[in-house]
Amino acid sequence: MSELRAVAVACANIAFIKFWGKRDAELNLPANSSLSMNLEGLTTVTTVEFSPAYDDDLVILDGQEVRGKTRQRIVAHLDRVRGMAGLRARARVISENSFPPGAGLASSASGFAALSLAASRAAGLALSERELSILARFGSGSACRSIPAGFTEWEAGTGSEDSFARQVAPPEHWDLRDVIAIVSRAHKRVGSTEGHALAPTSHLYPARVASVADRLAQARAALLEKDLATLGPLIEEDAISMHAVMMTSRPPIYYWLPASIRLMHQVQSWRDEGLEVYFTFDAGPNVHLICQAADQAEVERRLRDVEDVLEVMVSGPGPATQETEDPSYHRE
Ligand code: DP6
Repeated sequence: MSELRAVAVACANIAFIKFWGKRDAELNLPANSSLSMNLEGLTTVTTVEFSPAYDDDLVILDGQEVRGKTRQRIVAHLDRVRGMAGLRARARVISENSFPPGAGLASSASGFAALSLAASRAAGLALSERELSILARFGSGSACRSIPAGFTEWEAGTGSEDSFARQVAPPEHWDLRDVIAIVSRAHKRVGSTEGHALAPTSHLYPARVASVADRLAQARAALLEKDLATLGPLIEEDAISMHAVMMTSRPPIYYWLPASIRLMHQVQSWRDEGLEVYFTFDAGPNVHLICQAADQAEVERRLRDVEDVLEVMVSGPGPATQETEDPSYHRE
């Protein structure tokens, strides 16, 4: 392995209290703090190699060369790392997701978390967890939460230097599960970055931003007490609040499909029957069902009987972004 090469693995994450809207798009500073769980097994593995022999940056994602805006965003991130390290060499970036790209799962969080660690290490930098989280935030806001292990909180902060994610509890604190019901594999029409920019056009946005801090404090306390009966309704309320902002933006964004709404009703009636499960959503139609490990099999069983559900994926609290074995010998 050459000196200018490193490989990193990072998990996706699911936010219990969401990040929606930015107070500074350039620095990628959020309107509010957010709270999430890393998703074990839903990962991106990224190899970065800088070499004076390369005349341009090359990015390969899931076996395909990436061009256009996605490439530009990755090159901008490599430029940040080159700037920090005083390096001019171009890079080769090879990235593989463990989850299907069409599943509508946010790959930007795991993608930019893995890229931040792999690129910074390949460039010879040894960043602290905080510095790495700040770097990842510049790539994609939610990526900063995938840097520490387990349950993490991204504090909105007062500026770039104190806007990063810290661990709230390690993965072993609580065996929560995210049972993901895929109801559509279609590529979303409005990406998160575009959606964030529209948030301030919603008349509900100021009310959402004003209410998040309280909800987050209650959710953090419930998480630390492993109190799902308190945490669950807060998770649902926050997801609904975010989607209400999305749907009342100008132009409006409707991420939910009829199947998403049917599942929300379904989850409520399962709860009435005594099954402790709550829903949340990202910027998409797929439903994340949050429950405790003891209820996972029952939630999965019921979901597999729902006609709308194309696929079910299950995850639990995941580890930190870390360096990993070089996968290149599998390929070369
Ligand atoms: C709905 O982190 O994808 O998943 O910083 O523009 O890349 P960018 O946005 P991104 O937004 C995530 C939005 C969300 C909620 C969340 O994960 O908190």
